[in-house]
Amino acid sequence: MAPAPFEATKDFAAAMTSRDPLASYRERFHFPRLPDGSDCIYLCGHSLGLQPKKVRSYVEQELQDWENFAVEAHFRARNPWMPYHEILTEPTARLVGALPGEVVVMNSLTVNLHLMMVSFYRPTAARNKILVEANAFPSDQYAVKSQLQYHGYDPATALIEIAPRPGETSLRTEDIEQRIEADGEKIALVLLGGVNYFTGQAFECSRIADAGHAKGCVVGFDMAHAAGNLHLQLHHWNADFAVWCSYKYLNAGPGSIAGCFVHERHARNPKLPRFAGWWGHDKQTRFRMGPEFHAIASAEGWQLSNPSILSMAALRASMEIFDEAGIGRLRAKSEMLTGYLEFLLGHDRSGRFSIITPRDPAHRGAQLSLRLPQNGRAVCDALAQQGVICDWREPDILRVTPAPLYNSFSDVFTFAEKFRAALQA
Ligand SMILES: Cc1ncc(COP(=O)(O)O)c(C=O)c1O
Repeated sequence: MAPAPFEATKDFAAAMTSRDPLASYRERFHFPRLPDGSDCIYLCGHSLGLQPKKVRSYVEQELQDWENFAVEAHFRARNPWMPYHEILTEPTARLVGALPGEVVVMNSLTVNLHLMMVSFYRPTAARNKILVEANAFPSDQYAVKSQLQYHGYDPATALIEIAPRPGETSLRTEDIEQRIEADGEKIALVLLGGVNYFTGQAFECSRIADAGHAKGCVVGFDMAHAAGNLHLQLHHWNADFAVWCSYKYLNAGPGSIAGCFVHERHARNPKLPRFAGWWGHDKQTRFRMGPEFHAIASAEGWQLSNPSILSMAALRASMEIFDEAGIGRLRAKSEMLTGYLEFLLGHDRSGRFSIITPRDPAHRGAQLSLRLPQNGRAVCDALAQQGVICDWREPDILRVTPAPLYNSFSDVFTFAEKFRAALQA
């Protein structure tokens, strides 16, 4: 799709929609319906992605195989359960820019974050601090603080939180680099989100990883808001580890199985300390049920439990779509869609809101965060009543996300019209 100068008209949005080579993917998802039977305008993929229509049959297949084979389904199911998670390895590696041995789907996000910190937050007397973004998602803050406390450190002194400059809403990469340069020798772990959940800022992971490594820090990323959103290159960026969930842009359903990346230089090292479970044990000898743990020499070596097949079935339906559409093409459309949203919002001169997400497409994903200092919650509710679903984050942020797999330029246009009307009301 060639970049076009945008126009703030319904016809233009419709023309863009009809020229969109990815438009048909929309048909592969269930949209919540309005009372009149029409689809809602769903702009909340940063929170919970829509259900791919194939999820039902993929989950039903596993229910049938369970019904028909019970325990033998581990080997006799159409997709045998024993190695089921391996079906997801290559698509996941392609999605996040990793080698197959660097990724695994397992557990949920915060659990994986803890597991990664067990292996990669290895504090010493001289180097024990963790650097995070100041407004990280609360679960990450709790996880990090509890890890510090677990190792006997006080978060008040051992946690370095880096905030935007006064009057700014995004972190500058050079400020992160300077902080790492200044304090790096005391920092054991740099842990940032790939995309900040509140502001929508996408961090420059490669530069941050380089800066951290130059000072001997481990560098990990929470990619909850980046997986399926940005064109990630985790291996190439040299991240030590990354974690993400699959229920946002990855559309695998509420609480679905999460993802984890361990760079090959660590993944192949079975001696790396970790919390172990039987599913991370060498597959050839797992069922000898021996007392000693021998880790699989890949990211799979961090698995604890046998994973939920039903959850993986849902993720499989979604990952097939990502593989077919290609994250490169999706990202190209996403930049256009979010750019169009920004353009249309720029036509509002009421001064009743501002966009806190970076303007540069390279520094954001699909989401725009709008600051509405007055009656913002009422605007969000009014939109929901008209079938426009975005979400509200206290104290004053409306998060709006056109997801390139299932949103159109016309969705964005309708949102902008209804948003303007809700603001005026
Ligand atoms: C950035 C980030 N980190 C962590 C979490 C917590 O995820 P979970 O409940 O899957 O552990 C979320 C959830 O939305 C998130 O957005």
